[in-house]
Amino acid sequence: MKGLILSGGKGTRLYPLTYTRAKQLIPVANKPVLFRVIEAIRDANITEIGIVIGDTGPEIRETVGDGLQFGVQITYIEQDAPLGLAHAVKISEDFLGDDRFVMFLGDNVIQGGISSLIADFAHHPEWNSQIVLTAVEQPEQYGVAELNGEGRIARLIEKPKVPPSNLALVGIYMFDAHIFEAVHQIEPSFRGELEITDAIQWLIEHGYSVYPHVHTGWWIDTGRPHEMLTANSLVLEELTPCVEGTIDTDSEVDSRVTVEAGAEIINSVVRGPAIIGRNTRIINSYVGPFSSIYNDVVIENSEIERSIVLEHSAIRNIPARIQDSLIGRYAQVDINDVRPTAIKMHLGDYSRLGLL
Ligand code: G1P
Repeated sequence: MKGLILSGGKGTRLYPLTYTRAKQLIPVANKPVLFRVIEAIRDANITEIGIVIGDTGPEIRETVGDGLQFGVQITYIEQDAPLGLAHAVKISEDFLGDDRFVMFLGDNVIQGGISSLIADFAHHPEWNSQIVLTAVEQPEQYGVAELNGEGRIARLIEKPKVPPSNLALVGIYMFDAHIFEAVHQIEPSFRGELEITDAIQWLIEHGYSVYPHVHTGWWIDTGRPHEMLTANSLVLEELTPCVEGTIDTDSEVDSRVTVEAGAEIINSVVRGPAIIGRNTRIINSYVGPFSSIYNDVVIENSEIERSIVLEHSAIRNIPARIQDSLIGRYAQVDINDVRPTAIKMHLGDYSRLGLL
């Protein structure tokens, strides 16, 4: 089997962070979401992986490379415009050939990986496709499935106004080569995209077998800031803590905290689950549960909780606790302690600042 990761989207719902960063490279629990997707596929013993890239392709190529760091071999497939998930499959035909494959959206995080799913599909060579579904609260925002009485998919609809069930497609799909017949036949949807949901519906209508797998653990599509923070909390909950950095004797760090190599905790309190990245310094501060502080950050005389801070940022002398925040790279959050104590800002487009 091969793997196909879709990593072409612009990430407009995560502006301003994604003006300068591919959304799939934003870390949860200090590891980019895309790395987690690659590792999930690798852990299912699939080593030939194609990544469909768009405008943010150069950055993805540079960060992910040829796959050697993950023990896989990566082929990049360029998509000129975001014309839909089925379009991404269409342009990947040469890479995929006649192999069965798993397609995974590069901004999704799923509990428990996909190894058992892949094994299930591999044990049923007669299945043409298997798709992962999960119960959601707002099915109208997703592709939605209706099951028949025999445990197969009866019908699929993309973003239905009146959803036939609460079972959404989670963005993990397995196919055999018949999917290429489908992607060549379907027409663009109301949003101008070739929908994979329509392609799977085409398979069903043409007598191919499509089986569901209903996922009961958590699953997060990290498209929006609050989803990023939720994914971060859920992954932190499952992290096995490890301390490689240094903690001075004046600090209090509980057992659910990971302190990466070169990090220093000085006269501070860190409550887990949390992760402090490489060469980051926490000085006279409080870092609360569900925080991921990435590499080369300084937090001094401040309090932060349930937040993600990206690399090379500094937070100093903030009198109120920072909470539920996503702070980008090279950001400076600071208050002058010398009068006049004016607030000085250099904010990027679409930034949000919640002052006291
Ligand atoms: C896409 C799919 C949809 C699926 C969703 C999962 O939607 O078209 O069927 O439920 O991913 O995240 P989009 O994110 O393009 O709106």
